[in-house]
Amino acid sequence: MLPFVLVSLFLSSALAVPVSVTQYSINEVAPARLDGRPVSGAIINNVLEYAVDGGDTNIYILTLEQILSDVANLADIKSQALAVSQTLALLGELASGVPGDACEAAALVNVYADSVRTGNKSQLRSAVNRYLGRLASNIDLIVRLVNNPDSVRYAVGSRGNCSGGGRRYQFEAAWDAILNNSNPYQIGLLNEEYCALRRLYSAFNNRSNNVGAAVSAASVVPVTRAVELALGPLSSFLRAVASGANPANLAASAKQALIKAGGSVPL
Ligand SMILES: *[C@@H]1O[C@H](CO)[C@@H](O)[C@H](O)[C@H]1NC(C)=O
Ligand SMILES: *[C@@H]1O[C@H](CO)[C@@H](O)[C@H](O)[C@H]1NC(C)=O
Ligand SMILES: *[C@@H]1O[C@H](CO)[C@@H](O)[C@H](O)[C@H]1NC(C)=O
Ligand SMILES: *[C@@H]1O[C@H](CO)[C@@H](O)[C@H](O)[C@H]1NC(C)=O
Repeated sequence: MLPFVLVSLFLSSALAVPVSVTQYSINEVAPARLDGRPVSGAIINNVLEYAVDGGDTNIYILTLEQILSDVANLADIKSQALAVSQTLALLGELASGVPGDACEAAALVNVYADSVRTGNKSQLRSAVNRYLGRLASNIDLIVRLVNNPDSVRYAVGSRGNCSGGGRRYQFEAAWDAILNNSNPYQIGLLNEEYCALRRLYSAFNNRSNNVGAAVSAASVVPVTRAVELALGPLSSFLRAVASGANPANLAASAKQALIKAGGSVPL
């Protein structure tokens, strides 16, 4: 009888008092709010608007930008680190007039996918550090892009000169692991990112391929953990870009924190 009584009580109170039910989608239920969120969707939007010439962005990159600002609106530290990591990766690939290659990103994705499959992490730290080095050089590129766009208009992006340019790598295996390691409130947005990035991965244009590889590498667990360790200086840097200020002064400490995190991040 008990369930029945409970139901009728519920119904009678529902009839007596108008009840408003607020439904939250899974994406909105984020635990562990931070005091003073390092970044937000609005900040990421401003960064992208301020720094990126929209004339070069195809529909999948635009989709990715939109999802990124949604990720930045999640208030927990893991999502904040993911948004910062992915934004630095994306901006680095869009900053130069001529795309470079995606060697460090593709190499890290492969090493990460292998390490998840075999449990052997012996190659992981050096691959993570090389990729963090690439993110650090992205910070310099972003400073140039913001302060003097003409200086990067004809520049070629970073090159690792690996065979094939890092355009083919274990995309699916890496994303299986990224999705498997995500939290329930992130999974909807990460699935959307996976779909957009898969199109960029298989695209013909090498800039699209580079964005696919860079943002995938920026999403693997050891990288987001390292970015989390350096979140203060990295988010200060992005906030300066978002506000239209000269971010050059904040670039050095952001790079330093990122490289330092690579040495100590638990794998
Ligand atoms: C990317 O494509 C551009 C234009 O097609 C080409 O000039 C450049 O060499 C390519 N970069 C790499 C790393 O293959
Ligand atoms: C892990 O991988 C490295 C390099 O691929 C190899 O030299 C080492 O023997 C492997 N370790 C184990 C325990 O299999
Ligand atoms: C890749 O090749 C370019 C042009 O040949 C060179 O300037 C650059 O230093 C090389 N990068 C690496 C990491 O070897
Ligand atoms: C998913 O992650 C859990 C814990 O992190 C791990 O035990 C499991 O093997 C992973 N599954 C796959 C398919 O990677």
